[in-house]
Amino acid sequence: MAQATYHFPRGFLWGAATSSHQVEGNNTNNDWWAWEQQPGRIYQGQKSGLACDWWSGRWREDFDRAAETGQNAHRLSIEWSRIQPAPDRWDENALDRYREMLRGLLERGMTPMVTLHHFTNPLWLAEKGGWENEAVVEHFVAYTRKVVEALKEYVNLWITINEPNVLATFAYAVGAFPPGKKELGAALRAMTNMLRAHAAAYRAIHSIQPTARVGIAQHYAAMQPARRWSPLDRLAVGLQNGLFNQLFPQALTTGVMRFPAWFRRMPEAKGTHDFLGLNYYTRYNVAFNLRSAGELFGQRFFPPGSDVSDTNHIANVPEGMFQALKWCLQFKLPIIITENGVENADDHLRARYLVQHLHQVWRGVNFNWPVKGYFHWSLVDNFEWERGWSQRFGLWELDVENQARRKRPSVDLYAEICRENGIASETVARYTPEVLGKLFPNEIADGRENS
Ligand code: GAL
Repeated sequence: MAQATYHFPRGFLWGAATSSHQVEGNNTNNDWWAWEQQPGRIYQGQKSGLACDWWSGRWREDFDRAAETGQNAHRLSIEWSRIQPAPDRWDENALDRYREMLRGLLERGMTPMVTLHHFTNPLWLAEKGGWENEAVVEHFVAYTRKVVEALKEYVNLWITINEPNVLATFAYAVGAFPPGKKELGAALRAMTNMLRAHAAAYRAIHSIQPTARVGIAQHYAAMQPARRWSPLDRLAVGLQNGLFNQLFPQALTTGVMRFPAWFRRMPEAKGTHDFLGLNYYTRYNVAFNLRSAGELFGQRFFPPGSDVSDTNHIANVPEGMFQALKWCLQFKLPIIITENGVENADDHLRARYLVQHLHQVWRGVNFNWPVKGYFHWSLVDNFEWERGWSQRFGLWELDVENQARRKRPSVDLYAEICRENGIASETVARYTPEVLGKLFPNEIADGRENS
């Protein structure tokens, strides 16, 4: 078979992403742990428990796995409730533990990217009203200062807040995350405080570490009107896109929060990101529905026949990745894909999802779009929030009962891509031949022409 390869730029970051609560285990002092104890909150009453047991040291073996399979970077998060267990107490041992982890990455030749807030709040903060209370801004900055002072010699890529849009809407409007509110106004208030907190943290980080690169991880929900000709479907897409995708990063660029019936000038936020972190998973069709007022009159669904994940959570729509990257261009910043992946226990879908999405990333790169790295969600199966353990996003499978890891075939596929710094047709032919013809239309596999 003739060989062709889609190459990525030199220095491209290839890694996986994780978050503290989802992998560490025994994070007993945050709002999620408390939430997990309440009946009806998590799928089948499941709990994070030991998670992937990183806190007792299993990060070592998982970092070995990542490094041995070609990854040159890793995105992880710091657990606020461990660093600041009470408003007036800092835990130096916890900081040491993170130092060790980051040193562990560097020793393995991997570039660390660190998220300061990934969905969980210390209990004491939640009790004060969490992100709804403006006092969070001051607390977040104090925590940020503490962490950056302690870890600056190991990291210069920082994410302040993971998916402010998901956090604000799920915690305050949808009610699926703690504190379980269902009020759009509360979500907007929370988002406003997140913007203030981000802007202040951005400045704090730069004052401590002038070379730092600081951003957010923005969840981009790709959408298209269910009926292209329908003005109402377009309206629904416009509203959802305006609130969910556009509002936060736009405010970071312009210093203005703009949404129907919500306008805030926030000059201090203007220009407070050095790159855009992009989390992309799927694309939805959106139909106008008067009964979906809570979802801004847009009902989301996947068209019949979609290539969907185990629990129907994600449809494999690689063009949505291209759409997402194109959308990022408006901010005129370097782009890092901070999350992308699919829940799929038997791995039949992950291989094609991975190469098809990376092919779309390559298309962007080929237009000279400034994409600097890709972090797959996730390294090992981990605790998926209100969905508990029902969704398996790991390159490695985890047996939650005994902590055993088992390699899924996609591990070796991803390793070949990372090592090659590109997608070779041979790799695609070996791991996911069903998409070879789509990615390499001129390739001939097994003597047969691909269409
Ligand atoms: C993202 C989130 C991750 C992970 C992922 C897959 O929204 O940042 O923590 O849960 O979705 O569900």
